Amino acid sequence: MEKKKHKPGKFETLDAKNQLALKGGGKQRMQAQHEKGKLSARERLLLLLDEDSFEELDRFVVHRSRDFGLDQQQYLGDGVVTGYGSIEGRLVYVFSQDFTVFGGSLSETHAEKICKIMDLAMKNGAPVIGLNDSGGARIQEGVNSLGGYADVFYRNTKASGVIPQISVIMGPCAGGAVYSPAITDFIFMVNSSAYMFVTGPNVVKTVTQENVSAEELGGATAHATKSGVSHFSCQNEWECLQEVRKLLAYLPQNCEDDVPLAHYKPADETRPILDVIIPERPNQPYDMHELLSALLDEGGFLEVHEEFAKNILVGFGRLAGRSIGIVANQPAALAGVLDIHASVKAARFVRFCDSFNIPLLVLVDVPGFLPGTDQEWNGIISHGAKLLFAFAEATVPRITVITRKAYGGAYDVMNSKHIGADLNFAWPTAEIAVMGPKGAAAIIFKNEIAQAENPEKRLEEKVQEYSEKFANPYLAAERGFIDEVIQPSLTRFKLIRGFKMLENKVDQLPRKKHGNIPL
Ligand code: HXC
Repeated sequence: MEKKKHKPGKFETLDAKNQLALKGGGKQRMQAQHEKGKLSARERLLLLLDEDSFEELDRFVVHRSRDFGLDQQQYLGDGVVTGYGSIEGRLVYVFSQDFTVFGGSLSETHAEKICKIMDLAMKNGAPVIGLNDSGGARIQEGVNSLGGYADVFYRNTKASGVIPQISVIMGPCAGGAVYSPAITDFIFMVNSSAYMFVTGPNVVKTVTQENVSAEELGGATAHATKSGVSHFSCQNEWECLQEVRKLLAYLPQNCEDDVPLAHYKPADETRPILDVIIPERPNQPYDMHELLSALLDEGGFLEVHEEFAKNILVGFGRLAGRSIGIVANQPAALAGVLDIHASVKAARFVRFCDSFNIPLLVLVDVPGFLPGTDQEWNGIISHGAKLLFAFAEATVPRITVITRKAYGGAYDVMNSKHIGADLNFAWPTAEIAVMGPKGAAAIIFKNEIAQAENPEKRLEEKVQEYSEKFANPYLAAERGFIDEVIQPSLTRFKLIRGFKMLENKVDQLPRKKHGNIPL
């Protein structure tokens, strides 16, 4: 049979177009990108995705602008590489902005490309990962590019709680452009090359007369430690992309999916070190990380927001292979007190886990809420209420372990039985009370102490009396607020059994449009 021949030139045209698209903004701009220590949009995708898994869409899309000489400047792909691929074999959708094309700025068509993969991700129930490196709205396009941004924000919002959305900031991200990452679930930033701000240093200088560099104002460190906008900051782009891969391993693909189960071989689950982890003196700190590493499967704790509000820890881990979310007071930072930042940090994390069916483990050692005018005037009431609301609303399996202090309102807030926790354990070292023994004795025995011959001695006696009566877990256990007081070394064993028991939990909120969390 005669072999069919294509028309001469047709395949060559395709090859030539493909080659041209791969060049992005050209050799010089690519070189400039590398000289800044930054990878190209495509190089980043190669590092992020499984080998040979990337399928590109819309490679030949070009902008439709005719103003300011743009009709003379067309780059195939229009400054963003989009498509799908896999991470550890699981489907993900990706976009990667190409700074070599108009500074990665967002045009109407650039936005349409992003929207297309977001729509596909929603229909097919898989995460979206955006690699951001952009000068913002394409200035020559005016409202068309602003509209493009809004189209992306709208989809980010619709997708929130349906599929995980991850933003990786690898260059500039300024102006209204920051609001797309802000709506997504997790933001990664690369140290020294990424920055985010609503208004840059020049505008800041004009309006407030402050002198501040881009790095100080909105670099990875600023957002990891001060604003809490960023969840992960990384030394370099390679590390950053590997961290994204690690995070995804803990997440389901969408809100209907089961949490990932890693391979697990049953073994002796007792952890004797936990019996000696709580210090003798109640005010002596210990590091909750140590407790977590004894409790969790190999692979340990993937901490989210590591550098922000260190008085509370949030992150992911595994128990018997099952992915769980962890919220834990950190006695080693501000004695683990709950303040505004800690409450907001934990509330958002709880809501993420609840959206995606990730069971919650809550470790409690909390002396209460932080007092002071700064906290009150900045709204600890409504911010603390966010955490309370988030726990109370969560329908995922929830287990609490009180290791030491659970005082006052913080006892209620930290996933207590009363707000819907499924299993509440306490260690024999737990102290569940309205406040610490010293403060309590000073208030209720105020007159008796004042009239005593030796007030200090009397206070000490009363503290002792109060501690013996209330600073223990048994009164709560008598009421069923604590399901079981357990030997610390058996905690891992109890948690594995507990989460297994809860794996088919069904719980639903009353019918409503949505709740009104105190924002
Ligand atoms: C069009 C842009 C651009 C933009 C950069 N370029 N930003 N083109 N629209 N927004 C182009 C430059 O003209 C240049 O083209 C190339 O990208 C690289 O830019 P450089 O300035 O040479 O790079 P660098 O020195 O690294 O500075 C990067 C930068 C700077 C800090 C991002 O370019 C900058 O300040 N750009 C403007 C940022 C901005 O104000 N954007 C609008 C924000 S408001 P050539 O041809 O020379 O390579 C916004 C609103 C969103 O985004 C609203 C959503 C609701």
